[in-house]
Amino acid sequence: MTPRRMRVLLVGATGVVGRCVLRSLQDNHDVISASLDPAQGAHEVQLDLSDAEELVKTLKQLGPLDAVISAAGRAHFGALTDARPASLDASVYGLGLHDKLMGQVNLTLAAREVLRPWGSITLTSGTTSTEPVLGGAGLSMVNGALESWVRAAATELPQGWRLNVVSPSLVEGTPEAACLDFPGFEKVSSERVALAYQRCLFSGIRGQVVRV
Ligand SMILES: NC(=O)c1ccc[n+]([C@@H]2O[C@H](COP(=O)([O-])OP(=O)(O)OC[C@H]3O[C@@H](n4cnc5c(N)ncnc54)[C@H](OP(=O)(O)O)[C@@H]3O)[C@@H](O)[C@H]2O)c1
Repeated sequence: MTPRRMRVLLVGATGVVGRCVLRSLQDNHDVISASLDPAQGAHEVQLDLSDAEELVKTLKQLGPLDAVISAAGRAHFGALTDARPASLDASVYGLGLHDKLMGQVNLTLAAREVLRPWGSITLTSGTTSTEPVLGGAGLSMVNGALESWVRAAATELPQGWRLNVVSPSLVEGTPEAACLDFPGFEKVSSERVALAYQRCLFSGIRGQVVRV
Protein backbone atom coordinates (compact mmCIF):
# COMPACT_ATOMS: atom_id res chain seq x y z
CA MET A 1 0.00 0.00 0.00
CA THR A 2 1.46 3.38 -0.97
CA PRO A 3 1.17 5.77 1.99
CA ARG A 4 -1.01 8.80 1.22
CA ARG A 5 0.49 12.30 1.47
CA MET A 6 0.39 13.40 5.10
CA ARG A 7 0.71 16.66 7.02
CA VAL A 8 3.44 15.95 9.60
CA LEU A 9 4.83 18.00 12.48
CA LEU A 10 8.47 17.05 13.14
CA VAL A 11 9.87 18.45 16.40
CA GLY A 12 13.67 18.53 16.52
CA ALA A 13 13.94 18.61 12.74
CA THR A 14 17.32 20.40 12.81
CA GLY A 15 19.03 17.79 15.01
CA VAL A 16 21.02 14.64 14.19
CA VAL A 17 18.01 12.34 14.52
CA GLY A 18 15.51 14.85 13.16
CA ARG A 19 17.50 15.40 9.97
CA CYS A 20 17.43 11.62 9.27
CA VAL A 21 13.65 11.64 9.61
CA LEU A 22 13.17 14.85 7.62
CA ARG A 23 15.23 13.60 4.66
CA SER A 24 13.14 10.43 4.45
CA LEU A 25 9.76 12.20 4.54
CA GLN A 26 10.09 15.59 2.90
CA ASP A 27 9.69 14.48 -0.74
CA ASN A 28 6.39 12.68 -0.20
CA HIS A 29 4.78 14.51 2.70
CA ASP A 30 4.12 18.05 3.92
CA VAL A 31 6.51 18.33 6.85
CA ILE A 32 6.38 21.25 9.27
CA SER A 33 9.80 21.44 10.95
CA ALA A 34 9.88 22.55 14.58
CA SER A 35 12.84 23.46 16.75
CA LEU A 36 13.88 25.97 19.39
CA ASP A 37 15.23 28.29 16.70
CA PRO A 38 12.99 31.03 15.24
CA ALA A 39 11.08 29.88 12.15
CA GLN A 40 12.68 30.81 8.81
CA GLY A 41 9.81 29.98 6.43
CA ALA A 42 6.26 28.75 5.99
CA HIS A 43 7.26 25.13 6.69
CA GLU A 44 8.98 25.93 9.97
CA VAL A 45 7.71 26.72 13.44
CA GLN A 46 9.40 27.65 16.70
CA LEU A 47 8.36 25.38 19.55
CA ASP A 48 9.71 24.62 23.03
CA LEU A 49 8.69 21.21 24.37
CA SER A 50 9.29 22.34 27.94
CA ASP A 51 6.65 25.12 27.74
CA ALA A 52 3.31 23.32 27.97
CA GLU A 53 1.12 26.40 27.44
CA GLU A 54 2.97 27.51 24.33
CA LEU A 55 2.92 23.93 23.06
CA VAL A 56 -0.89 23.80 23.18
CA LYS A 57 -1.18 27.24 21.54
CA THR A 58 1.27 26.43 18.75
CA LEU A 59 -0.38 23.11 17.92
CA LYS A 60 -3.82 24.72 17.75
CA GLN A 61 -2.44 27.38 15.39
CA LEU A 62 -0.94 24.69 13.14
CA GLY A 63 -4.32 23.02 12.68
CA PRO A 64 -5.09 19.44 11.57
CA LEU A 65 -2.15 17.01 11.40
CA ASP A 66 -1.87 13.39 10.28
CA ALA A 67 1.27 12.71 12.27
CA VAL A 68 3.38 14.20 15.03
CA ILE A 69 6.99 13.12 15.47
CA SER A 70 9.36 14.20 18.20
CA ALA A 71 13.10 13.76 17.75
CA ALA A 72 13.92 16.19 20.52
CA GLY A 73 14.35 16.52 24.23
CA ARG A 74 17.29 17.39 26.45
CA ALA A 75 18.47 15.57 29.58
CA HIS A 76 21.34 15.80 32.05
CA PHE A 77 24.42 13.71 31.37
CA GLY A 78 26.96 13.47 34.17
CA ALA A 79 28.48 11.35 36.92
CA LEU A 80 26.27 10.16 39.75
CA THR A 81 28.66 11.92 42.15
CA ASP A 82 27.27 15.26 40.86
CA ALA A 83 23.73 14.30 41.86
CA ARG A 84 22.48 15.49 45.25
CA PRO A 85 19.10 14.99 46.87
CA ALA A 86 17.00 17.91 45.67
CA SER A 87 13.50 18.93 44.65
CA LEU A 88 12.72 18.46 40.97
CA ASP A 89 13.53 22.03 39.96
CA ALA A 90 16.85 22.05 41.82
CA SER A 91 17.91 18.52 40.82
CA VAL A 92 20.35 17.78 38.00
CA TYR A 93 17.60 15.44 36.80
CA GLY A 94 15.06 18.25 36.49
CA LEU A 95 16.13 19.10 32.92
CA GLY A 96 15.44 15.63 31.53
CA LEU A 97 12.21 15.19 33.46
CA HIS A 98 10.85 18.59 32.40
CA ASP A 99 12.19 18.67 28.85
CA LYS A 100 12.66 15.19 27.34
CA LEU A 101 10.08 13.30 29.41
CA MET A 102 7.25 15.74 30.17
CA GLY A 103 7.94 17.70 26.99
CA GLN A 104 7.16 14.65 24.85
CA VAL A 105 4.30 13.55 27.10
CA ASN A 106 2.76 17.03 26.83
CA LEU A 107 3.31 17.03 23.06
CA THR A 108 1.30 13.81 22.88
CA LEU A 109 -1.46 15.15 25.11
CA ALA A 110 -1.64 18.43 23.17
CA ALA A 111 -1.63 16.63 19.82
CA ARG A 112 -5.07 15.16 20.65
CA GLU A 113 -6.55 18.58 19.84
CA VAL A 114 -5.33 18.53 16.24
CA LEU A 115 -4.64 14.95 15.21
CA ARG A 116 -6.89 13.57 12.48
CA PRO A 117 -8.56 10.17 13.05
CA TRP A 118 -6.07 7.30 12.54
CA GLY A 119 -3.21 9.76 13.02
CA SER A 120 0.07 8.74 14.62
CA ILE A 121 2.44 10.10 17.23
CA THR A 122 6.06 8.94 17.40
CA LEU A 123 8.38 9.93 20.24
CA THR A 124 12.10 9.36 20.79
CA SER A 125 13.74 7.71 23.80
CA GLY A 126 17.20 6.12 23.47
CA THR A 127 19.27 3.02 24.08
CA THR A 128 20.14 3.95 27.68
CA SER A 129 16.66 2.78 28.72
CA THR A 130 18.11 -0.72 28.58
CA GLU A 131 21.87 -0.26 28.02
CA PRO A 132 23.51 1.73 30.81
CA VAL A 133 26.58 3.91 30.25
CA LEU A 134 28.68 5.76 32.81
CA GLY A 135 27.16 9.17 33.45
CA GLY A 136 23.90 8.16 31.81
CA ALA A 137 21.66 7.48 34.83
CA GLY A 138 19.58 10.61 34.21
CA LEU A 139 19.08 9.72 30.54
CA SER A 140 18.27 6.10 31.45
CA MET A 141 15.62 7.26 33.90
CA VAL A 142 13.95 9.52 31.35
CA ASN A 143 14.15 7.06 28.45
CA GLY A 144 12.83 4.17 30.55
CA ALA A 145 9.94 6.24 31.88
CA LEU A 146 9.04 7.47 28.41
CA GLU A 147 8.96 3.94 26.97
CA SER A 148 6.77 2.69 29.83
CA TRP A 149 4.41 5.65 29.43
CA VAL A 150 4.07 5.06 25.68
CA ARG A 151 3.23 1.36 26.12
CA ALA A 152 0.48 2.21 28.59
CA ALA A 153 -0.86 5.46 27.10
CA ALA A 154 -1.20 3.88 23.65
CA THR A 155 -3.86 1.51 24.99
CA GLU A 156 -6.13 4.45 25.90
CA LEU A 157 -5.91 6.57 22.78
CA PRO A 158 -9.21 6.85 20.91
CA GLN A 159 -9.99 7.50 17.22
CA GLY A 160 -7.52 4.90 15.94
CA TRP A 161 -4.63 7.10 16.99
CA ARG A 162 -1.32 5.27 17.31
CA LEU A 163 1.49 6.11 19.74
CA ASN A 164 4.98 4.60 19.49
CA VAL A 165 8.51 5.43 20.53
CA VAL A 166 11.77 4.94 18.65
CA SER A 167 14.73 4.03 20.84
CA PRO A 168 17.89 4.68 18.81
CA SER A 169 21.37 3.57 19.71
CA LEU A 170 24.25 5.91 18.83
CA VAL A 171 23.28 7.64 15.59
CA GLU A 172 25.71 8.33 12.75
CA GLY A 173 26.47 12.07 12.63
CA THR A 174 26.39 12.56 16.41
CA PRO A 175 29.21 14.93 17.42
CA GLU A 176 32.39 13.01 18.36
CA ALA A 177 32.46 14.51 21.89
CA ALA A 178 29.07 12.92 22.61
CA CYS A 179 30.11 9.60 20.98
CA LEU A 180 32.93 9.29 23.55
CA ASP A 181 30.25 8.84 26.22
CA PHE A 182 29.13 5.64 24.44
CA PRO A 183 32.27 3.46 24.29
CA GLY A 184 31.78 0.18 22.42
CA PHE A 185 28.55 1.29 20.73
CA GLU A 186 28.25 0.73 17.00
CA LYS A 187 26.87 3.74 15.11
CA VAL A 188 23.49 3.26 13.49
CA SER A 189 23.21 4.63 9.96
CA SER A 190 20.84 7.50 9.30
CA GLU A 191 18.95 5.25 6.84
CA ARG A 192 18.26 2.66 9.56
CA VAL A 193 17.13 5.38 11.97
CA ALA A 194 14.77 6.82 9.35
CA LEU A 195 13.31 3.35 8.70
CA ALA A 196 12.40 2.96 12.38
CA TYR A 197 10.31 6.15 12.23
CA GLN A 198 8.75 5.01 8.94
CA ARG A 199 7.68 1.75 10.60
CA CYS A 200 5.94 3.76 13.30
CA LEU A 201 4.22 5.97 10.74
CA PHE A 202 3.19 3.45 8.12
CA SER A 203 3.12 -0.13 9.49
CA GLY A 204 0.06 0.18 11.76
CA ILE A 205 1.89 -0.63 15.00
CA ARG A 206 0.85 0.94 18.32
CA GLY A 207 2.34 1.04 21.83
CA GLN A 208 5.66 -0.28 20.52
CA VAL A 209 9.23 0.57 21.45
CA VAL A 210 11.12 0.33 18.17
CA ARG A 211 14.81 -0.23 18.95
CA VAL A 212 17.33 0.62 16.27
N1 LIG B 1 22.14 11.30 18.55
C1 LIG B 1 22.01 10.09 19.05
O1 LIG B 1 22.87 9.22 18.87
C2 LIG B 1 20.78 9.73 19.84
C3 LIG B 1 20.62 8.39 20.22
C4 LIG B 1 19.50 8.04 20.98
C5 LIG B 1 18.56 8.99 21.35
N2 LIG B 1 18.75 10.29 20.96
C6 LIG B 1 17.75 11.26 21.40
O2 LIG B 1 17.18 11.87 20.27
C7 LIG B 1 16.83 13.22 20.58
C8 LIG B 1 17.51 14.12 19.56
O3 LIG B 1 18.90 13.90 19.63
P1 LIG B 1 19.91 14.58 18.59
O4 LIG B 1 21.20 13.88 18.75
O5 LIG B 1 19.26 14.65 17.27
O6 LIG B 1 20.04 16.03 19.26
P2 LIG B 1 20.50 17.39 18.56
O7 LIG B 1 21.32 17.13 17.36
O8 LIG B 1 21.06 18.22 19.66
O9 LIG B 1 19.12 18.03 18.07
C9 LIG B 1 18.09 18.31 18.98
C10 LIG B 1 16.91 18.86 18.22
O10 LIG B 1 15.85 19.05 19.13
C11 LIG B 1 15.52 20.43 19.21
N3 LIG B 1 15.18 20.69 20.61
C12 LIG B 1 15.96 20.52 21.69
N4 LIG B 1 15.26 20.82 22.80
C13 LIG B 1 14.03 21.18 22.39
C14 LIG B 1 12.85 21.62 23.05
N5 LIG B 1 12.82 21.77 24.38
N6 LIG B 1 11.76 21.91 22.32
C15 LIG B 1 11.78 21.79 20.98
N7 LIG B 1 12.86 21.38 20.28
C16 LIG B 1 13.97 21.09 20.99
C17 LIG B 1 16.76 21.18 18.73
O11 LIG B 1 16.39 22.47 18.27
P3 LIG B 1 17.50 23.62 18.01
O12 LIG B 1 18.33 23.15 16.84
O13 LIG B 1 16.71 24.83 17.71
O14 LIG B 1 18.28 23.71 19.30
C18 LIG B 1 17.19 20.24 17.61
O15 LIG B 1 16.36 20.39 16.48
C19 LIG B 1 17.32 13.47 22.02
O16 LIG B 1 16.24 13.30 22.90
C20 LIG B 1 18.35 12.39 22.23
O17 LIG B 1 18.47 12.01 23.58
C21 LIG B 1 19.83 10.68 20.22
